[in-house]
Amino acid sequence: MRVPSDVTIRRATSEDASFLRRMLFDAWQWDTDREPPKYDAERDGVPIGAAWYRLFTQGTAQRGYIAEVVPELAIAVVDSARGSGTGRRLMERLVEQARTESRRGISLHVNGNNQKALRMYESLGFAESCRDAIGPVMLLSLGDHPSDP
Ligand SMILES: CC(C)(COP(=O)(O)OP(=O)(O)OC[C@H]1O[C@@H](n2cnc3c(N)ncnc32)[C@H](O)[C@@H]1OP(=O)(O)O)[C@@H](O)C(=O)NCCC(=O)NCCS
Repeated sequence: MRVPSDVTIRRATSEDASFLRRMLFDAWQWDTDREPPKYDAERDGVPIGAAWYRLFTQGTAQRGYIAEVVPELAIAVVDSARGSGTGRRLMERLVEQARTESRRGISLHVNGNNQKALRMYESLGFAESCRDAIGPVMLLSLGDHPSDP
């Protein structure tokens, strides 16, 4: 496993809103064959990736919704920085955060053709919970919660 020594993971703030929007776009527009990302990414002090999760309700449910107590995750790394361990480190940090918050799990939705993301999620312990026409809803179960969804 490659561990880039020049990348640090820090908590995003409202000042990162612009970058988070760009990353949200990449998370949605993952298929680079259809719409290549247009980012000039550097590392030193310049953001190269973001991951976050948030809780939804049945009324605001997104594709990856499983339950109101299970936050849904989104992640993207700028194209130029992919494949060097940043995504995994972001994921691991979020999982750590979820454990700290005693979350019972993290969910997400991924396009069934997005093999890079699928492999990353599976290698981190996410498993398919259900599926729609686009791809699986995956759940990482955390801890021992008898009433898990
Ligand atoms: C998915 C994404 C976040 C991964 O980030 P990354 O920094 O490139 O990932 P990493 O380098 O940390 O690799 C993590 C794992 O992803 C998988 N992976 C990464 N690149 C891969 C490739 N070219 N082929 C197959 N699997 C790959 C591997 O399982 C890898 O683990 P390993 O290095 O131990 O084998 C990144 O590719 C991305 O931003 N893609 C576009 C947005 C997106 O798809 N978001 C998710 C939407 S659900």
